[in-house]
Amino acid sequence: MDDLFQNPISAATRFCAVYGQPIRHSGSPAMHNPALAKLGLDWRYLAFEVSPDALGQAIEGARAMHFVGLNLTVPHKLLALELVDALDESATTWGAVNTICFEAKNDSGDWTPLGQLTDPPAGGIRAKGYNTDADAITLALQQDLGLSLAGLRVLFLGAGGAGRVAALKLAAEGVAELHLVNRTVAKAEKLASEITGRFPQTKASVGYPENAANKIDLVLNATSLGLKPADALPLDESQFTLANAPAVFDIIYQPALTPLLARATNASCRTANGLGMLLWQGAKALEIWTGQPAPIDVMRSALESHIYGDE
Ligand code: ATR
Repeated sequence: MDDLFQNPISAATRFCAVYGQPIRHSGSPAMHNPALAKLGLDWRYLAFEVSPDALGQAIEGARAMHFVGLNLTVPHKLLALELVDALDESATTWGAVNTICFEAKNDSGDWTPLGQLTDPPAGGIRAKGYNTDADAITLALQQDLGLSLAGLRVLFLGAGGAGRVAALKLAAEGVAELHLVNRTVAKAEKLASEITGRFPQTKASVGYPENAANKIDLVLNATSLGLKPADALPLDESQFTLANAPAVFDIIYQPALTPLLARATNASCRTANGLGMLLWQGAKALEIWTGQPAPIDVMRSALESHIYGDE
């Protein structure tokens, strides 16, 4: 890895960063710095512990210092909607900002990412907010499970913050059926009616598929069950048998093999964990800042070594 960092930091080095609280667990610097080196960019990606009441100041500081861009993680993604100067359609559609791109006007007067301008900007800089989390869900399902989502029947477990965006994104991609299961049934009902209102072509219903023999194309866990070793399965196997699903995705990536994924592997399902979501949200952010395709293989292997070590 050392050879990737042979270029020392200089007065010309540009910066991007992730803000969060807590931040020390973040895999983003480990994933982005080798990617920046691979692209031959004299940039560095940093991580800062930023409290919600200091988020505005921290964004202003990055703007003043001509940072290329920022990623935002918990608890900043909603707050940032009010703090940026412009919102990309992705941020308005999904109601959250996880990526900020700083932009200035180029010689033709068009707003251009700072990372794609060679000279320091002469005029004002604006902060534009994007959401790359939602696209990352689709990309992870496509790349890691080989799924194309239109027309699929999905058993969807969870209706919390992450689950809501994932379920809405699946509906936006045209899945045919979403069977929503959640401990708090009222939250699943609310999500089902939001899906029906926004994406009426998707049949959203609450509970397991009525006939347990009904085939499902994908089981997706968006609950936090599986993070801790003592957690129960997020799926009630008396209501649905994994043998009726060819593919199972768990948004949890630590541990790599959750109890649900272990059961699914035993049932001969194709499986993937949520590492791909982390990878693709970062890759899409990098592409927004640089205007170049992200080096996915470098990012994936850096992320895997950071999270799983050499096991
Ligand atoms: P996140 O932002 O990660 O989605 P969240 O909004 O707190 O976090 O959502 C957590 C999800 O895991 C919810 O679907 C939650 O179910 P409830 O809506 O009933 O709270 C689910 N979850 C968490 N702990 C659970 C448990 N012990 N049993 C069943 N579901 C659980």
